[in-house]
Amino acid sequence: MPGAIVTGWGIAVPDKVVTNEDLSLTLDTSDAWITERTGIKERHIGGTTSGLAIEAGEHALKRAGLTGSDIDLLVLATTTPDAIVPGTSATVQAGLGVAGGAFDVNAACSGFVYALVVAHGMALVGAQKILVVGSETLSRITDWDDRSVAILVGDGAGAVVLEATEGPGELLGWHLGADGELRDLLKCDHGGHLYMNGKEIFRHAVRAVIDSSLIALERAGLTPDDVDLFVPHQANARIITAAAQRLGIAEDRYVVTIDRYGNTSSASIPLALVDALETDRIKPGSIVLLSGFGGGMTWASAVLRWGG
Ligand SMILES: CC(C)(COP(=O)(O)OP(=O)(O)OC[C@H]1O[C@@H](n2cnc3c(N)ncnc32)[C@H](O)[C@@H]1OP(=O)(O)O)[C@@H](O)C(=O)NCCC(=O)NCCS
Repeated sequence: MPGAIVTGWGIAVPDKVVTNEDLSLTLDTSDAWITERTGIKERHIGGTTSGLAIEAGEHALKRAGLTGSDIDLLVLATTTPDAIVPGTSATVQAGLGVAGGAFDVNAACSGFVYALVVAHGMALVGAQKILVVGSETLSRITDWDDRSVAILVGDGAGAVVLEATEGPGELLGWHLGADGELRDLLKCDHGGHLYMNGKEIFRHAVRAVIDSSLIALERAGLTPDDVDLFVPHQANARIITAAAQRLGIAEDRYVVTIDRYGNTSSASIPLALVDALETDRIKPGSIVLLSGFGGGMTWASAVLRWGG
């Protein structure tokens, strides 16, 4: 079946780096606690969601040998839009000169995988060149006096160019899920700050990643043993390790970037994916499993054969 393949990728992170030591100057916390409980060492803070998305998008377009005028659809995953109206994708469309339509997807930290699956579907109904971006500035909705959230978050963006192909596409299987009964576990009201019930999210997150990954793999006719690289949402190193262990995926087959970026919500999976691509951990034919979870709660997994 024809589909779509990734032909370009790029990231953007703000210049400013905030270390655990920096945070422990103003919060009752320590580098030792944050490192042991989360795996985070530092995070990048600053910029705007549209600005980071444009920069990541420029890198992805350049890598694909394209410009914005070649793109017939822009899908932007974000849970920290620049404004309520217009969609941040409109600003990114203008900034990159995207020729076609543009819309935002908000599925919290699952947003990038949701957006990627939607983009593959759009390729099946005629879209030719699609830019998929995950971009976040969680720092803007964080109460920097609240240690339960401030130690976790970071800002950044990651983007991929998806091009329709006559041959087989990359997407072998996917699974999207949501349970709005759990919506109070992670939330931010208009004008407010991010709140999360860390313990409860932790419990649901491990289960969600495992179940969703197994469903996506089953739909692809594969098992965890077939996965060459697992690219999970980066919310807590302990969640990643617990899920990988229970899936039987050894350490050399999964990506951890949370030490450098913290939790960047819908940017975390593309940041980790691009890190794996830049370090040659993904090759043509590699089976790549993306899986994320987040506020809503939502969860999402996609199984790709790299290069189709
Ligand atoms: C938030 C999280 C790191 C907290 O880790 P935890 O192991 O559950 O820690 P707890 O909340 O049980 O706290 C343990 C102790 O550390 C203390 N503590 C909490 N935050 C702290 C901090 N930043 N620094 C130092 N101590 C802290 C607590 O007060 C508690 O002390 P006590 O034992 O004296 O009561 C963890 O629950 C988590 O990552 N959850 C998932 C969050 C998530 O994924 N969110 C994003 C979803 S997309």
